[in-house]
Amino acid sequence: MNDLLPGEIEVWQFVESTARTLFGRFGYGEVRTPMVEDTALFVRSVGEETDIVGKEMYTFEDKGGRSLSLRPEGTAPAARAYIEHSVSNQEPVSRWFYMGPMFRYERMKTGRYRQFYQIGAEAYGAREPAQDAELMDVVVQFLEALGLTDVTLNINSLGDDNCRPAYHAKLVEYLNAHREELCADCQQRLERNPLRVLDCKNEKCQAVAAAGPNVLEFLCEPCRAHFTDLQRKLGVLGIKYVVNHRLVRGLDYYTRTVFEFIASHPALGTASTVGGGGRYDKMMKGLGGPDVPAVGFAMGLDRLVLLLKEGGKTFTQRPDLFIAVADEGSQDAGLALASRLRREGLKVDFDTRGGSLKSQMKRADKSGARFTLVLGEQERQSGQAKLKPMAGGEPIPVALDSVAATVRAQPEAPAAAPAS
Ligand code: HAM
Repeated sequence: MNDLLPGEIEVWQFVESTARTLFGRFGYGEVRTPMVEDTALFVRSVGEETDIVGKEMYTFEDKGGRSLSLRPEGTAPAARAYIEHSVSNQEPVSRWFYMGPMFRYERMKTGRYRQFYQIGAEAYGAREPAQDAELMDVVVQFLEALGLTDVTLNINSLGDDNCRPAYHAKLVEYLNAHREELCADCQQRLERNPLRVLDCKNEKCQAVAAAGPNVLEFLCEPCRAHFTDLQRKLGVLGIKYVVNHRLVRGLDYYTRTVFEFIASHPALGTASTVGGGGRYDKMMKGLGGPDVPAVGFAMGLDRLVLLLKEGGKTFTQRPDLFIAVADEGSQDAGLALASRLRREGLKVDFDTRGGSLKSQMKRADKSGARFTLVLGEQERQSGQAKLKPMAGGEPIPVALDSVAATVRAQPEAPAAAPAS
């Protein structure tokens, strides 16, 4: 679990505000659900045999003796809220997004944490492939807006209750025949949840899975038509994708479409999946709610931030102005001027400790401010001061009552490198 401090948080804020703007454009409204839910919610939706529920949840008993869990993901809590507030009675189609921390007791490495952050979106009420395509478009445009282009969309279909059992039977038969080649974990998975074998990172297991039955060859006609139409619609939107018949995802609630966005940057190592999702048409009913189809995705915020940091762009907003005081008698005037200019919309740095002008100028350098204004007896008397451009150049005369307008009127020069 990580602390996020100023200096780093700006990248996070950039990702979050980009998501808010973009998801809003697509008509997705923000929802916030509690960080804890009844444990049973996740058992019934994500699935008892998944790693997430079986091994990774932070589960505890509260003082009332209820079993609660810190949410390991956001889809089930959003579905719970959707059911609880009878949203389907109010509108046929709802589009929600959320962002916030999720908790999984995972083995930690770069890009994999125990408290991590997701930005996710869920669309309820539309069964059509157009909805799947629209959601993928949200992610594509989100990644574009972040400037992350080196990401590949993988898609697959897992079929439905009608066609998946035949695939399942064939897969179990095949995996049983190759049992000895599988890792110890997968030998267990084979008993409880054979689809998970396709997910295993072990090379031998991957080789076995690669030569196994292809889920797409087992799809019934309606599932096949859905998948074909989805691909056509992705074409209409100009979205590039790869069909990956081994993509199964780590959660049990999916029917038909599943997808993942995979980054190729080495910084993420094996944590290269920056987001994933799919259709879950059965979950609402399974949780005791209405028969409402749904499709959604979640992006790993920590991983997006890692990629953006690799890009080397800076996200910290430097101050417009540093106010230094030449003498102790000007300290109050400095404090008041800083306050007024902030009210007028400038980002102003001011050393509340006072001290020598030399030490304040050092601090001004370090702050990366565009301009420094020195306030002393003479400036206070005359109402006139000078804006010193920190990147170099001639000082600009300024009246103390028009500092904000004068600073704004100056063309942005490249940032002065903060002194180390
Ligand atoms: P998920 O694939 O489990 O799906 O998680 C989505 C994304 O969250 C991953 O692709 C990854 O980027 C990030 N993530 C997951 N675990 C960690 C971790 N331990 N540390 C850092 N990042 C992590 C879901 O959670 C589904 N609820 C997605 C969904 C929404 N399906 C339908 N609607």
